[in-house]
Amino acid sequence: KIPIIFDTDPGIDDAAALTILLTNPAFDVRLITSVAGNVSVDKTTLNVLKLTHFFKREDVAVARGAEKPLVREYHDAANIHGESGMPGYVFQTPTTEAMSIDAVEAMFNALVTSPEKVTLVAVGAFTNLAKLLTIHPEAMTHIARVIVMGGSLSGGNMTSVAEFNVFTDPDAAKIVFESGLDITMIGLDVTLKALLKSEIMTTLSNMNHTGQMLMQLFSYYGDGSMQAGKPMHDVNTLFYLLAPEKFTLQDYWVDVVTDGPAIGATVADIHARTHQTTNIHVAMAVDVAAFNAWYLLEINKINDG
Ligand code: BDR
Ligand code: CA
Repeated sequence: KIPIIFDTDPGIDDAAALTILLTNPAFDVRLITSVAGNVSVDKTTLNVLKLTHFFKREDVAVARGAEKPLVREYHDAANIHGESGMPGYVFQTPTTEAMSIDAVEAMFNALVTSPEKVTLVAVGAFTNLAKLLTIHPEAMTHIARVIVMGGSLSGGNMTSVAEFNVFTDPDAAKIVFESGLDITMIGLDVTLKALLKSEIMTTLSNMNHTGQMLMQLFSYYGDGSMQAGKPMHDVNTLFYLLAPEKFTLQDYWVDVVTDGPAIGATVADIHARTHQTTNIHVAMAVDVAAFNAWYLLEINKINDG
């Protein structure tokens, strides 16, 4: 089992990832933390609780995180994920609440009380993680590795160069990228290729209640298209943890641009000119057919009848 802390801003692709996280026994979920990103932190926290309720995983602790980026002003992505962040399916009102301590303290406690090192997966803006590393640097020795969905070496989805999670809080991304932790960046270079095709979405909806819930969310998802397929950005982090052989990685020094017209860009020193060392394992390619097949299998395994 992989001990995991999952930092997220649901968000439709976040919900698609949380579906796997909460149902696949390979993951020992120690904590889920929310952050302002796709929608406000009040909404992302509620959305996490809706999903822990949906999957009867109220045993999983949920902590509310940052309501705005470290420095920049906050802007949501409700144009892509709807006003609620998870539109199209009517979830029941959750019966549990977020912890009384905030995400940073909850992460710290979960890390220092864990007998083994914990994998951190971050699929929203990196504000919570940056705060953790700044306020509690001693937490670093308890982190096995960090898998992030964010960044891109091949163009952005917010500006021509910036990806949404990094663009939302570039100052936080810079702190995380330069922390010295073992970081794998699953960015748009792969996530814009790993599209869930519409045939697959239809198959999903015929499988079970979970598949229907997902299909309803996907039909409101403003990223990609039904014809070409929709990018399941955040889901790739979990596919990577379970099937790393399906990805091609390259190590680079990656800088985060924190001001100017390229703010939010992630720039790799591909010619090794400015740095002798590397700080990030960058996912450059993924087996898309394997990704689609795996996602179907994962949903099909869920017994929610
Ligand atoms: C990332 O931005 C968010 O909108 C998605 O949930 C994903 O984490 C893609 O750029
Ligand atoms: Ca996300």
